[in-house]
Amino acid sequence: MTEAETIDIVKKRLGKRSIVLVGLMGCGKSSIGKRLAFKLGLPFVDADDEIERAAAKTINEIFTDHGEDHFRDGERKVISRLLGNGPQVLATGGGAYMHPETRQRVRDDGISIWLRADLPVLMRRVMKRDTRPLLRDGNPEATMLKLIEARYPVYAEADMTVESREEPHDVIVAEILNRLATPTSMPTTAAHAPAPSRSVRVELGDRSYDVLIASGLLRDAGALIRSRLGAVKCGVVTDENVARHHLATLEDTLKSEGIFAGSIVMKPGEATKSFRDLATLSERLLELGLERGDLVVPFGGGVIGDLAGFAAGILRRGIRFVQIPTSLLAQVDSSVGGKTGINTLQGKNLIGVFHQPSLVIADTAVLTTLPPREMRAGYAEVAKYGLLGDAQFFAWLESNWQGVFGNSGPALTKAIETSVAAKAAIVARDETETGDRALLNLGHTFGHALEAWTGYSDRLLHGEGVAIGMCMAFRLSEELGICPPGRAERVTNHLKVVGLPTKISDIPGGGANADELLRLMGQDKKVRGGKLAFILVRDIGWAFVSREVIPETVRAFLGREITR
Ligand SMILES: NC(=O)c1ccc[n+]([C@@H]2O[C@H](COP(=O)([O-])OP(=O)(O)OC[C@H]3O[C@@H](n4cnc5c(N)ncnc54)[C@H](O)[C@@H]3O)[C@@H](O)[C@H]2O)c1
Repeated sequence: MTEAETIDIVKKRLGKRSIVLVGLMGCGKSSIGKRLAFKLGLPFVDADDEIERAAAKTINEIFTDHGEDHFRDGERKVISRLLGNGPQVLATGGGAYMHPETRQRVRDDGISIWLRADLPVLMRRVMKRDTRPLLRDGNPEATMLKLIEARYPVYAEADMTVESREEPHDVIVAEILNRLATPTSMPTTAAHAPAPSRSVRVELGDRSYDVLIASGLLRDAGALIRSRLGAVKCGVVTDENVARHHLATLEDTLKSEGIFAGSIVMKPGEATKSFRDLATLSERLLELGLERGDLVVPFGGGVIGDLAGFAAGILRRGIRFVQIPTSLLAQVDSSVGGKTGINTLQGKNLIGVFHQPSLVIADTAVLTTLPPREMRAGYAEVAKYGLLGDAQFFAWLESNWQGVFGNSGPALTKAIETSVAAKAAIVARDETETGDRALLNLGHTFGHALEAWTGYSDRLLHGEGVAIGMCMAFRLSEELGICPPGRAERVTNHLKVVGLPTKISDIPGGGANADELLRLMGQDKKVRGGKLAFILVRDIGWAFVSREVIPETVRAFLGREITR
């Protein structure tokens, strides 16, 4: 589609509605908004300018003379009036969208786009200008972090989220236009579908449990746990990143139900899945006075879930736990199915136990603070469910992936629910991986070896290793003549468009060696009698376990892959 055609479609679909840009100071609402308006041939209006004009004072003067409440009230009225003048591109002040009435007005007469940026990006931009009233005093970075915590879950209600990266504005504007032209990205009527709430049952007899999925569930975690699992004591385990953004909310809800025992905050990162941290954590959980009927509550990504789930599995010979996953990877994969464990020098996840949680609470709104790279890495596991057993789901992702990344709305909930349901079905059939469950390792034999080769470092996240591994599994299957040609290309194209790596040379640093990778693949848990198990594919949506691939074939394949 040419740009002119794209613009034409967007304008038709917009009708009289305005594009409303929301986000924190420094996210680029004015600069991107002006460029977007220019492309669309629409007026650009900055709500802050209108407010200053209406009050005949600067925003700083309004804050100083009358206080924030007065300013917010005026802001709400001005935005409501402006929304009657569409179509236009309207940039709103950072706090405007926090007002429920304003959000409703935007839903009625606009398409909201949240320009999301990470803390360092925002700080770099705003510190160039020091005129923002909310950043004048004290520690601007701490103030900005507080604003992120309070506002990102609400901004996530916007119709679309666009990453405001350090890239030329035209690149971001082109992305917005392309996404607005995609059929599923824009509500067709002013009515806005509320983020649905879903529940998936993992059927394991008397150890069955529910996975609850919805935006905003964290606030109700205390009541949910108490009503389902009784008046227990909860020992929360989290990491520093998650704690900074969300721990206060979890502690408040547990305290309000009288079930909070204490929180233990670990260092973030894969290195925390170690014997040393397991020992420290286990002792600290005992110090919290957790007894057999009580609960460990892993609150974080897969690292915290695996580590704290393992601690729960061995504490007092096994106590119950409730997973509250906070990364996409943890919500769609690691929090469900009861695999827990730690890493050793010999490889990943080689020490652990199967220990099923009693409940999983997946709040999609917490994903708004997840760094985009981590979100993409989690998406690799989402795509995996389509690739291993559900071709229709993969096709749906190809058309709807932007909605999955976009906000905590219906597409994200659907992607998580479908993934969890797929995992739940496999786990119910084969809890301890004697058969079918191995399919969940599509891409993992290669992926784990690549992770080990990069030293579990920032060079390659787990999900990124899985993305490359899945592409390699498709390429190997095609080379072996098991899978029709063209499938690997389709998979690669999709993962690439999402921003995931798809080949070994995409990993920064280079220097891969086929023999070394083959040796690392030998550490895989799926090795039996020295024979490697591969998850190969007959087609998209049709994976199977093979023990027929001989090491020489793999070595030659790896050699070709390294130079790809
Ligand atoms: N048990 C299983 O079945 C299973 C399945 C797949 C993966 N895993 C394991 O999961 C781990 C990877 O999980 P992961 O990708 O979640 O890694 P992770 O736990 O390291 O989380 C990724 C990063 O995101 C941060 N983070 C998490 N939630 C956040 C939020 N809401 N806001 C801001 N920051 C947030 C974390 O602090 C961390 O820095 C690996 O150890 C892998 O082996 C286990």
